[in-house]
Amino acid sequence: MTIIVTGGAGFIGSNFIFYMLKAHLDYRIVCLDKLTYAGNLSTLAPIMGKADFRFVRADICDREAVDGLFAEEKPDIVVNFAAESHVDRSIEDPGIFLQTNILGTQVLMDTCRKYGVKRFHQVSTDEVYGDLPLDRPDMLFTEETPIHTSSPYSASKAGADLLVMAYHRTYGLPATISRCSNNYGPYQFPEKLIPLMIANALNDKPLPVYGEGLNVRDWLYVEDHCRAIDLILRSGKVGEIYNIGGHNEMRNIDIVRLICKELGKPESLITHVTDRKGHDMRYAIDPTKIHTELGWLPEMRFEDGIKKTIRWYLDNRPWWEKIVTGEYQNYYRKMYGGR
Ligand code: NAD
Ligand code: DAU
Repeated sequence: MTIIVTGGAGFIGSNFIFYMLKAHLDYRIVCLDKLTYAGNLSTLAPIMGKADFRFVRADICDREAVDGLFAEEKPDIVVNFAAESHVDRSIEDPGIFLQTNILGTQVLMDTCRKYGVKRFHQVSTDEVYGDLPLDRPDMLFTEETPIHTSSPYSASKAGADLLVMAYHRTYGLPATISRCSNNYGPYQFPEKLIPLMIANALNDKPLPVYGEGLNVRDWLYVEDHCRAIDLILRSGKVGEIYNIGGHNEMRNIDIVRLICKELGKPESLITHVTDRKGHDMRYAIDPTKIHTELGWLPEMRFEDGIKKTIRWYLDNRPWWEKIVTGEYQNYYRKMYGGR
């Protein structure tokens, strides 16, 4: 079994590769990644020389490069994690989001068709459903919830999802889609809420909470997400969409306070800054379908997962310090300076 994993040098993709190599000793994984600012080859260093792993630097939008790799590897399965993934960056500059997230997905699917790939899996997001009101805890996103996007990022992911379903219906592409809630865990790039707050707190820097910090996200430990995708690849039905989430809604401000507490840092570091434009209020996944049809349930409790994640950032300082001392500083100044 050969699986091409795109975006495998990023946060979830790298965790997925580690998970799959451990769970399936007979699988070969080929990682295709452009190594954008979010891709990090040092993450994959421990498996670089392994016989069942290959890394190829390429852009999913580069039709020739993708074709060449498929011709060589004849993959059974393609799992597409490659994306521009940060909402704030999409608000600053949407173009690359449309390019990679939509057109890159098209290139991958065209190539899957050409080489008769048995499964194309698109890693999507709960953000395609838009947001939910804070005062309606009974409302959750199901697979039937209409697409209703807020940011250029979520619009680009929704565009890709629609294209995947169109390729399935029109060309019979054996495709599946998963839409997951917010992930946390090791190797997450420190532009995202949890690692940003951990890194800033450890450096005694202000903790920039957007608005009042009352927005709610539904947090899932990254390994639970990886296990769900593995299950969909093995037992999911083609043409189907599966929501993934663990009923773990938390307000941003409570997460930041928890990080302060765990690190023994004062809450006076918390600084309320200008809100994100078009900021989604609440996400909440109904995972009934993947539970009843595939038997998936999250295994990591948030109380344990957040401690484990904080421990990882404490034990792996060189990994994120290398990032936050580089080009990231310009990004940080641009996004947070005078905010
Ligand atoms: P990430 O930003 O950490 O990693 C993205 C990876 O894709 C990087 O390694 C980057 O180099 C690579 N990449 C970007 N453009 C590329 C291109 N044109 N060609 C090849 N590689 C390219 O992202 P992540 O948080 O790991 O998210 C992975 C996927 O999961 C994305 O599709 C995202 O939409 C989806 N998702 C993320 C979350 C979350 O909470 N992080 C939740 C649900 C879904
Ligand atoms: O829901 C799934 C999505 O989760 C994925 O599709 C995206 O790729 C991923 O980035 C994530 O999107 P969010 O916008 O929810 O994640 P982010 O970590 O950027 O922000 C989480 C919340 O924290 C959000 O309400 C904004 C807020 N926030 C974020 C940052 C970076 C702050 O208050 N301060 C910050 O500095």
